[in-house]
Amino acid sequence: MTHGEQTDGQARDRIDTKRAHPARIYDYVIGGKDHYQVDVDAGEAMMAEWPSLRVSMRQNRLFMQRAVRYLAREEGVRQFLDIGTGLPTSPNLHEVVQRERPDASIVYVDNDPIVLAHAEALLTSAPPGRTAYLDADMREPESILESPMFKELLDLKQPVALTVIAILHFIRPPADHALLRRLLDPLPSGSFLAVSTATEEFAPAEIRRVREQYESRGIPMVSRTTAEVGAFFEGLELVAPGLTQVHRWRPTEAQAGVTNEQVAMLGAVARKP
Ligand SMILES: C[S@@+](CC[C@H](N)C(=O)[O-])C[C@H]1O[C@@H](n2cnc3c(N)ncnc32)[C@H](O)[C@@H]1O
Repeated sequence: MTHGEQTDGQARDRIDTKRAHPARIYDYVIGGKDHYQVDVDAGEAMMAEWPSLRVSMRQNRLFMQRAVRYLAREEGVRQFLDIGTGLPTSPNLHEVVQRERPDASIVYVDNDPIVLAHAEALLTSAPPGRTAYLDADMREPESILESPMFKELLDLKQPVALTVIAILHFIRPPADHALLRRLLDPLPSGSFLAVSTATEEFAPAEIRRVREQYESRGIPMVSRTTAEVGAFFEGLELVAPGLTQVHRWRPTEAQAGVTNEQVAMLGAVARKP
């Protein structure tokens, strides 16, 4: 079990309660409890522009769970590198994966001090499973790849699933592609990439206004077309059903009744040949 160099107390000192943060807005909107008034105000302003935001974010969280369950159950993946983990929200990625593969190892990565402050709840796996939390920034991939946690928990002779769920819309192009490649490059053949990220294709006016709410708070928000998201998977083999809105990816009963206009997220899973 590893927890970064900082204590929870030091992480708490770094939390900026004056500005809204993506992890905390998301936590508020999906119904969590680890956020501040400034995040409530941001989330409410966004939902006033687009009431379906809550459906969209919850469907994103469910996509993450279905994607990693698929990878663990059907593809036998036992190692996960999760970038942009967010605040703990049960079931977390390791809980879903370790139900299928109790010996799975998960390295969680986020750059928000509030996630570090709550990381204890991500480090609950029982042996033989392992989880670690790394306080690092996706825009500095070497800080991830060179970290002792990455090297200790992930065996690069075995497949690794790189999960980049609801974070790429905070990374502006053109850096996005190179950053993703840098993280994917060291992973062996038979590894996987799972991505979800924002699009405006299905409710353009409403989602543009939500994007403006993020930007007006100093949070970059990039929405991409299906073709632009598809480009992240170049050279990889998409798993069926390919790139879809997240509620259309291997749906279960929890997706019944959800319409395309309610979901602003595209998602896919692909294998590295
Ligand atoms: C919307 S949340 C998604 C949480 C989780 N992956 C999910 O989909 O349920 C996005 C997370 O990405 C994190 N994040 C944003 N930019 C980041 C960066 N450059 N490096 C690491 N994490 C980042 C935020 O702090 C936040 O916790």
